[in-house]
This record gives sequence, structure tokens and C-alpha cells, in this order.
Amino acid sequence: MFNTLHIPVLAKESTKVMMTTAEGLYLDATAGFGGHTQLILESLDNQGHLIAADRDQDSIAYLKSKFSHPQLTILKSNFRSLRKEINQLDCSFTFDGIIADLGVSSHQLDSKERGFSFKKDAELDMRMDQTTGISAKDWINRAPEDEISGIIWKYGEESYSRKIAKTIIEQRSIKSFNSTRELADLIYQIKKHSIKKEKKHPATKTFQAIRMHINDELEELRSLLDFSLERLKPGGRIAVISFHSLEDRIVKRFFRDNSRIDPTLSKLPNIEDTSKLKVILKKIKPSDEEVKTNPRSRSAILRAAEKIK
Ligand SMILES: C[S@@+](CC[C@H](N)C(=O)[O-])C[C@H]1O[C@@H](n2cnc3c(N)ncnc32)[C@H](O)[C@@H]1O
Repeated sequence: MFNTLHIPVLAKESTKVMMTTAEGLYLDATAGFGGHTQLILESLDNQGHLIAADRDQDSIAYLKSKFSHPQLTILKSNFRSLRKEINQLDCSFTFDGIIADLGVSSHQLDSKERGFSFKKDAELDMRMDQTTGISAKDWINRAPEDEISGIIWKYGEESYSRKIAKTIIEQRSIKSFNSTRELADLIYQIKKHSIKKEKKHPATKTFQAIRMHINDELEELRSLLDFSLERLKPGGRIAVISFHSLEDRIVKRFFRDNSRIDPTLSKLPNIEDTSKLKVILKKIKPSDEEVKTNPRSRSAILRAAEKIK
């Protein structure tokens, strides 16, 4: 079932910057296949505790099979439900550190039956949590043309977004989309004359955009950042590894906006400093060596901030 394991990205850098005390309470919000989880557990003393959460049932099953550790709680939750799920464990929980390693795991990408990849022919699904939401196949077969082109443009910055959406609508009026290959072939036909200019597979941007939409990834990220602000202790830290410029922009702005006085008020006399965060790590990327051993790390960006009050 778990044929591809995930190599954690910026693992030492992110856990080191997030952990300030060995006896703290920590949250790994994207536990995946346990790379960061493992490192955090190794750094705890016997007072510390870690909650490892993920929205993907495969990940939860794997974590349960791999770890049986008295200082670890494994929790199935997406970012939006963290408040509710953690309150059910203990509503007084506040954290010394929260880590999120965004995007998809190698297992999700490489497992044919999850329908994330144009490299393997399978039913087009792309849901990180297959127990809820609408699959990519259902969305592609039902969404209006302007919604499809808008998503492919907004999340994929695909310059052929309109043409791709128009062709999807034409094709689906003849036969519904079912598989990853059908969609990848359609994009290939549209883009085949420009392929030499692009290093990546012509369907890369469209698949990424659909995945981000199906999993509501940017809104989920905003929920996680709000949750962190609410549930970090003063002095507690959040570390986020993002893989897409839109994600990184959200993290960067959130940290910036919460670490300064509102610029519209800052010139007024006697303004109280209401900033809640201090940026402690502006931007770190993986080393050349890490990218060589783990090419999937190449677009990663790590940022971290500390809660002040
Ligand atoms: C890049 S992988 C994390 C890998 C993990 N750090 C490791 O070392 O194995 C991203 C994981 O985050 C999960 N994920 C992504 N978005 C999520 C969300 N909104 N809520 C909960 N889990 C999410 C995915 O299901 C996936 O397992």
C-alpha cells in the first residue's frame, strides 16, 4: 500500500527553528509520512508531546503503523477543523510550536489510485481526503467553462487556460472525463507546438491548479495561520514550508501584517504596538545538495515567526 516513502524537505532547518524547548507541546499539521514527526519526537524530553495531524487517511494509517510512542497523538484533521479536533482532545491546549510542510506527499503523487498524476493512468481524483469533497473528475465534468479557465489561470498561471477550458467543454459534451491520461492527452494536443519551450510536462500547471482548487489549499492555509496565531503560546513558533509562490505570498504577508503596527495607524500619536508576531526566519531554500538528492524539494521555501503576545 505504501510503496513510495516521502523524503522530508528542509527537515532539520524547520524543526530546529520551530522547537524552543524539549518539554513543549507541538503540532505537526502535515504529518504525511512522518519525516518531521520523527525529528520532533527525537528532540522531545519525557515531558514533551507532539500531535501529528493530516487530512489523508493513508497518511494516518501509515503513521499509526510506524509510530507507537506514548508522547505522540495521531489526529486526522484538515487545517480548517484543527480548532474543533484539538478542542476535543483538550480545549486548553496551546502550542510551543506548529509546523506545516504544505502540498502533497510523494505517496499521494506516486500512488496511481489517488489520481493526482498525469504520469500514471488512473481515475482523476486528486482529493487529499477521499472521504469528503468533490473529485477532480466530477469537477471537470460539471464546472462552467469560465470557472475552469479561471482556476487553471489563477493557480497554474497557464497561458493556455482559456483554450484548455474550451476544449474540455467540447470534449465532455461528447464523452465525460474519467482518467488522468484523458486530461493529460487533451492538454498535450493543445500545447504540443510549444512543448520545446517548456521543460516540464505540458499538463503540469493544469494538474497543479486543479489539485489546489479541489483541496481548497489556499483557504486551508489561511485557516492554519489564523489557528496558529490563536493557539501558539507567547514565545511559541510557527514554521511553514511552501512549494508554490501563491502559498509563500500568503505566509509572507501574514507574518508581515502581524509583526508590525497597521501602517494606516502608525503615524498617529500614542499608538499601542499591537503586533502579535516577530519574524524569525525570512526565507530559507534547500541547499543544492538537498535538491540533488531530493528534486521535489527544489521549489521549497521555509519561513518562521514567533508569537509575542
Ligand atoms: C509534503 S507532505 C508532508 C510530508 C511530511 N512532512 C513528511 O515528512 O512525511 C504534505 C502532507 O500534508 C497534508 N496536507 C496538505 N494540506 C493539508 C490540510 N489542509 N490539512 C491537513 N493536511 C494537509 C497532505 O495530506 C500530505 O500528507
